[in-house]
Parts: sequence; C-alpha cells; structure tokens
Amino acid sequence: MRARKIIIDTDPGQDDAVAILLALGSPQDIDLLGITTVAGNVPLALTQKNARIVCEVAERRDVKVHAGCAAPLERALVTAEHVHGRTGLDGPELFEPTMALAEQNGVDFIIESLRQEAPGTVTLCPLGPLTNIAAAFRKAPDIIGRVQEIVLMGGAYFEVGNITPAAEFNIYVDPEAAREVLGCGVAVTMMPLDVTHKALATPARVAAFRDLGTRVGSFTADMLEFFERFDVEKYGSEGGPLHDPCVIAYLIRPELFSGRHVNVEVETASELTLGMTVADWWGVTDRSPNAMFIGDVEADGFFALLTERLGRL
Ligand code: RIB
Ligand code: CA
Repeated sequence: MRARKIIIDTDPGQDDAVAILLALGSPQDIDLLGITTVAGNVPLALTQKNARIVCEVAERRDVKVHAGCAAPLERALVTAEHVHGRTGLDGPELFEPTMALAEQNGVDFIIESLRQEAPGTVTLCPLGPLTNIAAAFRKAPDIIGRVQEIVLMGGAYFEVGNITPAAEFNIYVDPEAAREVLGCGVAVTMMPLDVTHKALATPARVAAFRDLGTRVGSFTADMLEFFERFDVEKYGSEGGPLHDPCVIAYLIRPELFSGRHVNVEVETASELTLGMTVADWWGVTDRSPNAMFIGDVEADGFFALLTERLGRL
C-alpha cells in the first residue's frame, strides 16, 4: 500500500518530538511532505528550532521545516513551559541545529501543498494549537475540499481539562481556530486526553527506548524522563502521556484505537469553560457528528510499534 502523504503541524514539545520520530521511522507508511511549526508549548522561535533539532537527531536534515503562526488567531499566546521546560525540549542535551529553516511560511506551505497534491491525498496532522490550519483555511478556502483527513491531538471530554478544569491545552490556546477546523466539513479524527492519558510512558517503556542503544533511543528516554514530571505530580500517573504520537500511530495501525463518531463543539465565549470540547457522546442533541472521537488505545501494542519504529532510526 502507498505511504500516506501527511503534513505534521506541531509545537515541539517532547511528545511532539516523539511523534515526528515515529513518522520518520515509518517511511513505508508515512510520506512526510513537511513539518509546519506553530506557537504553543513554547513560542514559535523555539518550536521551529526544536523541530529542526529532532530532525537532526534522526539524521534527517532533508526534512522541510517551516515556521507558521507566532500567535493564536484572536488571542494572546498561552505557553506551557511548566510542562515542557524553558526550551520546550528539556531533558536531553540540546544543540543549535545546522539545517536551515524553510523560507516559506508554514501556512503558505500548507496551502501550496494541498493545491499541488491530488485532491483527497494529503492528511493534516496537527499536534498543537490549530492556528496554522485555520489560518490556511481562512486564507485559501479552496484547499478545504482537497484535504483527505485531519487527524489531530486535542480536546477532552470524560478526562476533562489539563490546562484548565475544562479545557485541553491545544484547544484552549486557540479555541477560535479549533472551532473553525471542527466546523469546516473535513473528516476529523481527534485524539483527546481521553485516549492519550492511556498511553503512559512508564519507566519500563522508557527503559525500552534507552535499551535501543541509539542516539534516538537515549534522546527519547531523556526527553520522557523530564516530560513525565507534570503528569506524575498532577495525576499520580505512572509516566508521561504520549499525546501526540497517538496521531501518527493511528495512521500506521488504526486498529490499536477505538472511538465513536460524534458531534464535538468548542466553547469560545465562556471564560469559565473556554476551549472545552463538548462531545455529544450519547447523541442527546440533533447536532450532526463531525469528528471520530477516540477514547481507547491498546497501550502495549502502541509502545511496541513506537519502540520498533524508533529503533529503525
Ligand atoms: O494537551 C496536550 C497537548 O498540548 C500536546 O500536544 C502537547 O504537546 C501540548 O501541545
Ligand atoms: Ca503538541
């Protein structure tokens, strides 16, 4: 089967970094057209640098990394250094990347790629706030009908919020962008906290990365040993949740995941519940379903895939 053409839109972030590495370790499944970066976990100047660092760790300086939006569509940026550290990639020893940042803005790269590739053949994989995606759709509405699918990490329902009591970080940072993406008519698959909190990088799983005995393996283990602090402290969980890699793993082995096609709306007005994703899980409204809302993952299979693919880098 042909590899699936994707664009990863990301705000690295340790878990974003693992998602990028999973994609780079799976060329037979994933044809990575490029990486677009967005402000989120840390400001854009750092997310675009971190994306290039990850590509260099994987010895993939050929990957096109673009910088996109430096702030949400209509709000001030909220970042998450408390989770990811000041650099956004705390844990391993970092370095100045030598690969160049692509000149073209990430939003324009998304537009150009969707216009150049055959309709219905490109999947967008947002792993951070949805600002770049919404900005591309606003700037070039003609590309919306050309998107094959959007598989994103974001939202929460039964699991409630991680940045506020009601909202998950990616949606909270740019709720207007999230609302526009969920309402654009493209097939959307969401990886909310409901599923990503079941993909925990336990000490044994982190050790399996380190036991790969490679630069990628130790870089990943170092990232995750830092990244877990926030969730272990807050939730008492047995390791950090690998939110963003769920998106890429779903493209490679969808059978590891299960969910329900439901209506999902985003709160953009209430200060109390701003960014909340209201999933009509029990079908109690007449709002039409607009997202495959994933609720479960076979965690051992997920980590076996992740470890095997990172082991190829
Ligand atoms: O809430 C988790 C999400 O926010 C992940 O994508 C993480 O990288 C941060 O961007
Ligand atoms: Ca992210």
